Amino acid sequence: MPGLPNGLNRYAHICGWGTAVPDTILTNSELSRMVDTDDEWIVARTGIKQRYIANGKETTASLGVEAAKAALDTADISPNDLDLIIVATSTPEHNFPSTASLIQDELGASKAGAFDMGAACTGFVYALSVAGQIIQSGAINTVLVIGSETLSKIVNWEDRSTCVLFGDGAGAFVLQGSEVPGGILTSVLRSDGSGGDLLKVPAGGSALPASYDTLRDNLHTITMNGREVFRFATRVMADACREVVSAAGMTMDDIDFIVPHQANARIIEAAARNLNLPLDMFIMNMDRYGNTSAASIPLALCEAVADNRIKPHNNLVFVAFGGGLTWGATLVTWGVSKSTSPHQVWHKLRRQALYRVARIRSAVRRSTRMIEGALWGGEEMDDN
Ligand code: UT7
Repeated sequence: MPGLPNGLNRYAHICGWGTAVPDTILTNSELSRMVDTDDEWIVARTGIKQRYIANGKETTASLGVEAAKAALDTADISPNDLDLIIVATSTPEHNFPSTASLIQDELGASKAGAFDMGAACTGFVYALSVAGQIIQSGAINTVLVIGSETLSKIVNWEDRSTCVLFGDGAGAFVLQGSEVPGGILTSVLRSDGSGGDLLKVPAGGSALPASYDTLRDNLHTITMNGREVFRFATRVMADACREVVSAAGMTMDDIDFIVPHQANARIIEAAARNLNLPLDMFIMNMDRYGNTSAASIPLALCEAVADNRIKPHNNLVFVAFGGGLTWGATLVTWGVSKSTSPHQVWHKLRRQALYRVARIRSAVRRSTRMIEGALWGGEEMDDN
């Protein structure tokens, strides 16, 4: 196996993985009772048959926490071992605090830094690349990367050209440093902001703050020029795959599977033709999930791992594109088989206890802050 192009000899392995989806499924035929569409059109044009939709209580953070707990179980590590949490999302819990900080609190990951990564549907690839490089530098050892989305909350449910595409869900990886070659090898990250208008949520930021007018004009929901995004996606997917493979000193013959962003089956078919690769090398599950943006790659990868398609030492290319415009790819050698420690059950029980302690600790901190604020807050301000 070739070493890292950066000359470092520390590797970042994916040693834990997990997913979460909402309870509710929305099928194409149910959608056809909401807008002027039908199952035949949606399947033929996108490959999507159904998607998961979050209820009022399911949020980007709650799905992210569920996926993170599953990933910590697979890695069999404690939340206290985490050095950093990165959440890739376009549907954060709030503008701030970051969704990553809320997840850090819920997990009780008391030694972890936390931030959100905003690169739309390419967010998970960006986050994976950043996490891999921080670990390879030796700065920190254990990173939780989450892709979590509740796109149903920013979809215009009257716009048939977008509302049929998106779904909700989350996926998470635990990355750890090791001297053993493998894991994240190379990445390609790109952006072309001149295409920013092609896919965006127009209002709610500093350019167009929320107002009565923005609400009336439905500017807090996704708008997209589907044809242009389609053309861009088919062009960049194949290029990014070639570039990331060549950066690792490999050829496409060395690659076992491509795990693409699950936006549209036709985009993936076009990339397969362009790369001259058989379609069964591409992991696809958008038929059951729709486009879950930053969550789509971990959701697809975890399914392929669960059904034993992906084996240790397989070379995988994660490739994505999306709003920004952004696109990117990461090449990974899948190096770990699932841990079979006899203590795993006890470790899981311990983690569950730690999550309960984390909740209590968080509630105590909030209450203490309130009491301190009531007793001394005014005094300190007066002193200043
Ligand atoms: O994560 C990145 C995010 N986005 C994407 O990756 C999306 C990329 N783009 C696409 O996947 C495709 O462009 C779409 C699936 C969005 C649309 O497929 P298309 O083959 O490009 O259709 P189109 O926009 O060219 O529309 C064709 C026709 C139009 O009717 P006319 O003007 O030909 O009479 C649309 O009005 O299909 C109509 N149409 C629909 N018909 C039934 C658009 N949406 C629907 C619908 N049901 N849901």
